[in-house]
Amino acid sequence: MSEVVRVERHDVIAIVTVDSPPVNALSAAVRGGIYDAVRAAGADPQVQAIVLTCAGRTFIAGADITEFGKPPKQPFLGEVIAAIENCPKPVIAAIHGTALGGGLEVALGCHFRVATKDARLGLPEVKLGLIPGAGGTQRLPRAVGPELGVKMVVTGDPIGAAEALKHGLIEEVIEGPASGGEAFARKVLAEKRPVRRLRDDDSKIAAARADRSIFTNAAAAANKRNRGLEAPLACAEAVSWIFDVPFDEALKRERETFLRLVAGDQSRAQRHAFFAEREAAKIDGVPEGARPRKVERVAIIGAGTMGGGIAMSFANAGIPVTLIETGEEQLKRGLGIMQKNYEATAARGGIPADAPAKRMALINGVVGLEHVKDADLVIEAVFETMEIKKEVFTKLDQYAKPGAVLASNTSYLNINDIAAITRRPQDVLGMHFFSPANVMKLCEIVRAAKTAPDVLVTAVATAKRIAKVPAVVGVCDGFVGNRMLAARSKQAEKLLFEGALPQQVDAVVTKFGLPMGPFAMGDLAGLDIGWRSRKDRGIKSEIADALCEAGRFGQKTAKGYYKYEGGSRAPLPDPEVEKLIEETCARLGIQRRAISDDEILERMVYPMINEGARILAEKIAARPGDIDVIWLYGYGWPVYRGGPMYYADQVGLKHIAERLAFHAKQTGDASLEPAPLLKELAEKGETFAGWAKAAAQAA
Ligand code: 3HC
Ligand code: NAI
Repeated sequence: MSEVVRVERHDVIAIVTVDSPPVNALSAAVRGGIYDAVRAAGADPQVQAIVLTCAGRTFIAGADITEFGKPPKQPFLGEVIAAIENCPKPVIAAIHGTALGGGLEVALGCHFRVATKDARLGLPEVKLGLIPGAGGTQRLPRAVGPELGVKMVVTGDPIGAAEALKHGLIEEVIEGPASGGEAFARKVLAEKRPVRRLRDDDSKIAAARADRSIFTNAAAAANKRNRGLEAPLACAEAVSWIFDVPFDEALKRERETFLRLVAGDQSRAQRHAFFAEREAAKIDGVPEGARPRKVERVAIIGAGTMGGGIAMSFANAGIPVTLIETGEEQLKRGLGIMQKNYEATAARGGIPADAPAKRMALINGVVGLEHVKDADLVIEAVFETMEIKKEVFTKLDQYAKPGAVLASNTSYLNINDIAAITRRPQDVLGMHFFSPANVMKLCEIVRAAKTAPDVLVTAVATAKRIAKVPAVVGVCDGFVGNRMLAARSKQAEKLLFEGALPQQVDAVVTKFGLPMGPFAMGDLAGLDIGWRSRKDRGIKSEIADALCEAGRFGQKTAKGYYKYEGGSRAPLPDPEVEKLIEETCARLGIQRRAISDDEILERMVYPMINEGARILAEKIAARPGDIDVIWLYGYGWPVYRGGPMYYADQVGLKHIAERLAFHAKQTGDASLEPAPLLKELAEKGETFAGWAKAAAQAA
């Protein structure tokens, strides 16, 4: 018996249990343990059937991702699965929790599968830049049919037990994994059910053979969702082999593709993103025993753009919300937008037809801040003005129950100042969501000077409950994401003065993989907001001001840095803007020059990295990976580039520091000078990742 796989015999049934916390990943030890146990039970004359199950919170959640990139150890997963599939006795996978990736591939090698009702089954390899590498692309479509098969492999999204049952992925829904698996095994023996090897079962494939469009459609849909990724296309192609490539040959090709992708840059970056996301949820300096406070009821202040989206995120997770506004009119408008938003999603098939009514029923719109009294968590999303925020927090202090967590969704304002207006600064922190808040996954959790550890833990846990990705940050202007964005925006604006056009800058940024360039983003957000704030602060930005003076506020006026025709959101380059830029430069006596795309890319991305280095040195973010997570989930940084700090390490910090120094000199912009941390690491030939590792070891 191995340390991570144990075998018990219940008369003629061998129960093989994997016990390798936290998620029973298929490490070399687990693979070896299953292989030996199945072979031994297969050869044991006392055993008539084998149940493969797991201890702990889940069935096997996949290959051990930490082993990728290291020399492979035997037995390989394919050998383990072949041993199961070729076992002369029925092998039953009894699944609970998640059967993912290699975990589902192991289950597909078994002759029968049963699962508990909350189990989820899927092949998420594509999300790590991979294709399934141990038969998943060939066995899953044989189990569920090619159409669902290709969809699951290409999107990586799992299905629940009910759907798995409907499509023949499992035979039965069971109560408990071990007991249910054993009961099912007895049934198999009693009924003398023949073992079913998926590799030999082409029954579901034959019917679909004529229609190849399912593969091209699946690939096209994936491509639309995730431009620039290699893995979805490779997944679609691999599944298409079910039709005309012999099973063993298809497995060989699948393995070769897996090995090619696992060694590639995209998968490496995506694996970095996977672990960075998990690290980011860990809070530095919080005592072991800090436990989240209970959050059963939430109040959200403000039913505007953000408050509405945040309320929807809670309702989506089944958590009741009190949504508070200043008047009936504002409330009606906010609730109306949410209702419409839900209905549009339902019409697209994104949520069930009855979901809009169910979710809206969880949102109770009211007028008056006194209604926060029952809330365990209050999230303020009113106008971005310190005076108003302080007024609101003074009232929250008065009405909220003791122990309620008080969060602000402010984009830039100082949370310490907001906390100081209350008599309970320990309960105050920032929960900074991103627009559209019901869609974007990031939540920056802003830790103020006096925020209590259990309040931080509560915010992180709550963000996860509503399917957001939390990243803890410190207090500074714009926190992490918007502070780095500001460094980029500054350069974008300067580039217009120096000789670039909005469409040239945006094209470079989107080609790099971000969903939008800075100017299209400005048009979407509305140029008048920045204009008004500049006027208040007595600041000028000649080109942006001139656009606003001409009534060009962005998409809302169908004209901004671009023009928008026929109600479309597609930005069209506008010769009028080109003229306006040239005239403004001429008026200011600025000589414009031709600017290369390479320079644009460097000046869009490297200043962000530079700001990231300052953020790390100031400990506003605990790890470079946290910054990556913020950009991946808050701004759509392309996952195959891993995040700005990971990207910096790949490009090389020495090169980045040199180029920043060059641009600083060329443009006379001192903010482009390499930050001290960047300079230091560049000189030592180090990386941000190496620096963070050394810091963690030293702590
Ligand atoms: N390998 C190694 N470590 C893993 C892992 C894996 N496959 N899956 C999870 N972990 C680790 C996490 O890093 C985390 O470690 P930490 O506590 O030190 O930070 C710990 O397990 C718990 O993970 P989560 O915090 O994510 O726990 P949740 O309960 O929220 O989620 C889960 C559990 C749904 C299983 C989620 O971890 C997950 O989606 N895991 C990845 C699944 C996956 O992608 N599998 C496919 C792998 S590739 C493959 O199988 C190739 C094959 O085809 C050959
Ligand atoms: P918004 O103008 O769309 O909504 C603000 C809402 O708050 C309005 O409906 C207003 O009636 C209401 N309100 C004002 N005072 C109130 C009070 N005393 N009590 C109850 N309701 C009150 O503003 P938006 O865009 O939703 O921004 C809200 C906050 O979120 C701001 O702090 C902003 O900086 C922040 N934020 C905005 C993002 C965006 O992209 N719009 C992104 C992330 C954060």
